[in-house]
Amino acid sequence: GVGLGAVAAAGASFALLTDAKGNKANAATNTATLTIPDLLEGTTSDSTTTFTLEAKTGTAEVLTGVTSTTAGYNQSFLGPTMKWVKGNTNVLNITNSLGEDTTVHFHGAHVPAKMDGGPQVAFSDGDTWSPTFTVKDEPMTLWYHPHALGTTAKQAVHGLAGMIIVDDSDNTTSADLPTTYGTDDIPLIFQSLAVNAAGDIKYDLTGYLAATAFPLLVNGTNVDDTTLTFTATKTRTRFRLLNASPSDIIVIQRSDGGTMTQIASDQGYLAEAADVTTIRLVAGARAEMVMDMSDDVTLQAVITTGWVRGGSGTYDFLAVTASGTDTPDDLPSSLRTIDRYDTSDFTARTITLGNSGGTMLIDGKAGTSMSSMAMISTTLGSKEIWTIKNSTQLEHSFHLHDVPYQLISINGADPTGVQLGWYDTYEVVGGGSIVIAMEFTDFSDDTYMYMLHCHLLQHEDEGMMASLMVTDS
Ligand code: C2O
Ligand code: CU
Repeated sequence: GVGLGAVAAAGASFALLTDAKGNKANAATNTATLTIPDLLEGTTSDSTTTFTLEAKTGTAEVLTGVTSTTAGYNQSFLGPTMKWVKGNTNVLNITNSLGEDTTVHFHGAHVPAKMDGGPQVAFSDGDTWSPTFTVKDEPMTLWYHPHALGTTAKQAVHGLAGMIIVDDSDNTTSADLPTTYGTDDIPLIFQSLAVNAAGDIKYDLTGYLAATAFPLLVNGTNVDDTTLTFTATKTRTRFRLLNASPSDIIVIQRSDGGTMTQIASDQGYLAEAADVTTIRLVAGARAEMVMDMSDDVTLQAVITTGWVRGGSGTYDFLAVTASGTDTPDDLPSSLRTIDRYDTSDFTARTITLGNSGGTMLIDGKAGTSMSSMAMISTTLGSKEIWTIKNSTQLEHSFHLHDVPYQLISINGADPTGVQLGWYDTYEVVGGGSIVIAMEFTDFSDDTYMYMLHCHLLQHEDEGMMASLMVTDS
């Protein structure tokens, strides 16, 4: 049975479920072609790009042979990949057909607070929300998902999530990087879910206790017993990895133990490409990697945390057939310049992640309503260094809206390798801490706030969220 004693000890948190009912041995028996989400480029005239999205319900087979009620953008489950162009003005006409309030948050985008889709801009069933903003982001992989108070986990696990690619086709550092979507530039969206035998997708403690299956989905396809297939027609293929799971950490590796060349973290290119054997994605995080393939490669996803499922899993989720005959140029030795912050004159704060029974807290306050949550105020132009202190024994994933951050230290250690890139979502282990630095630029508002929160969606909905007000002075 499920470890109810452990659950009681953790209050209403799911993090200490101890039963290994979700353990998964690596024994895929079927194959299916990798699904590539549609590309949504919008319609552009005079540098204004208009996108149309509808959040709606549908059905999908999250468990093979079982019909689940789901939701998606413009489709039954997940959403199209939006392509944004830096410098263009985006107008998004987003209609809510879900039968309940929602928002659409542009995770990782640098946009005005009123446009970023936080809880303050929730809109009702039948309404259309039309955020308008200039794309200021560098080439990177972002994503979009709901963010209304208390319903983020529910709506996201039912399928409301999609990728955003900030176009880099005219970026000189990208000259030798693949950019043909669906051919050599491939999105991979991971969702580790919890489902009961009837196919109901679960998103809270009561639901998790009733769950009987813990599927891993890649681009919406269950890979529990299926290896997806993809034929790489170019020697060099780029993969954009997004962990859209509500909680689990997903580690990507090659089944042969070989290297992948990581080129980007959450917030775009690393200073230089890094050969790595694993890429660890906390909930909400992204990374990009390329592989030059002369032989076939199988990619694996490893779930070691298994908080909801209470067990781990290793999945041969993607078999790539190498069929390219071209010889790509060497990757540029420098992808971009990242000036590391000198934080000596930065304003320091400590932000404490805590809990009290089943209520999750930031700085002692439960972010279950806009009025109860902690609010951090800063001014435009300020440069800050924050210690994110995890006073719980649970793992968290620290996400900050609006601006990217640099990692200054991780549990007391200096960052190295890919940790020297730009992030917006990073792991904070139980009892640990990270120190991050950021600069508030471009947008101020004395009415609308950005959010900072744990990206374990259950924790966010249980209160581990605070607001951030950036004012002029
Ligand atoms: Cu992806 Cu505030 O969230
Ligand atoms: Cu958390």
